[in-house]
Amino acid sequence: MITRRDFLRLSTLFSGAALAGGSFAGGRSPGAVGRAEGPLVISTWDFGQAANAAAWGILAQGGTALDAVEAGARVPEADPENQSVGLGGRPDRDGHVTLDACIMDAKGRCGSVAALEHIVHAVSVARAVMERTPHVMLAGEGALQFALEQGFAKHDLLTEKSRREWQEWLKEARYRPVPNIENALPGGGRNHDTIGILAVDAAGDLGGACTTSGLAYKRHGRVGDSPIIGAGLYVDNGVGAATATGVGEEVVRIVGSHTVVERMRAGDTPEEACKQALERILRLGPKAWRDVQVGFLALRRDGVVGAYALQDGFTYAVRSGPVDEVRRAPHLL
Ligand code: GLY
Repeated sequence: MITRRDFLRLSTLFSGAALAGGSFAGGRSPGAVGRAEGPLVISTWDFGQAANAAAWGILAQGGTALDAVEAGARVPEADPENQSVGLGGRPDRDGHVTLDACIMDAKGRCGSVAALEHIVHAVSVARAVMERTPHVMLAGEGALQFALEQGFAKHDLLTEKSRREWQEWLKEARYRPVPNIENALPGGGRNHDTIGILAVDAAGDLGGACTTSGLAYKRHGRVGDSPIIGAGLYVDNGVGAATATGVGEEVVRIVGSHTVVERMRAGDTPEEACKQALERILRLGPKAWRDVQVGFLALRRDGVVGAYALQDGFTYAVRSGPVDEVRRAPHLL
C-alpha cells in the first residue's frame, strides 16, 4: 500500500522527470537526449528533395525551422505535376480539389486547414490560422473565407491532366483509392500522397508541416490525417517531431504522429517509434492490409532520423548540407 509520504516522494520524482523534458512510460526512462549539432530537414517521398532544398535555403542562413518547413511545403503545393498536393492535386469524386494542411512550431503553437478549396498554399493559410487567429483549425468555406480575407489569391486547382484522369475514373464509377501503392493508378501513375516535412534549425528548435490534396477521388468533404494535429503531424521541442503519410483514416485511429513522439519520449529510437505506431495500427485490424500504405517519419531533437512503413516503397529525403540523401524506409508487411 502506498502511504501519503510515498506518494509525495513519487510525485516529486515524477515532476522532476517532467521538468527535465522527459517522462516515464512503460517503465523505461528516455535518458538524456541532447540538441542536434546543426540544422537538418527531412521530407516524405521523392518530391521531398525539392522541398528540402527550399527549406535548406532558409536553415543555412540561420532561419527558423518554422520558416523552413513552410517554404519547403510550398514547393510541391505549387507544382502542377505533383498530383497529390496543392495545385494539380487529384480531385474528390465530385471534381473538387480539396486541401488539408497543418503546421506546428517549437513553442507548441499550431494551425491547420481542412477541405480548403481554391488556394494553392494551404500550408501558409494554416500558418495564418496559427498566427492571426485564436483558433487551431478552420475548415471548408470558413477556411476559404479566411484565406481570401488574408489576401490569398483564388485559383482553379484542377489542372487539365487531373481533370482528364478524374473523368476516366468516373467512367468506372468505383470508389477504390489505393494510396501510396507504387504504380497502382490506372495507366500506371503514382498515387503518392502528402508531404510531411520536419526540421531542426541552428538554434536547436523544431518545426513541422504537412500538406496534401488527400486521397484521390475521395468522398466530397472527407478529411484525412494531414490537418489533424497529433495525427498527420506533431512537434514537441523537448523530444522530437513526427509526420505521417498514407491512408489518413488509419493514422487518425491511433493519433499516429503524437504516438510516435510519445514513443520517442519513452526512449524508443525514431525508427522503433515509427514501427511501434504501425504495429498499433495493425493490432486494430482486421483489414485488407495489402491495399493500405501508412508511413511515419520521425526526427528526434538530437537530429537522429527514422522512418517505417506498412508496405515497401516509402522513401524520404534527408538534408543536412547542400545535397539530399534519399532513403527507403523499412516496412512491416
Ligand atoms: N495522408 C493523407 C490523407 O489520408 O489524406
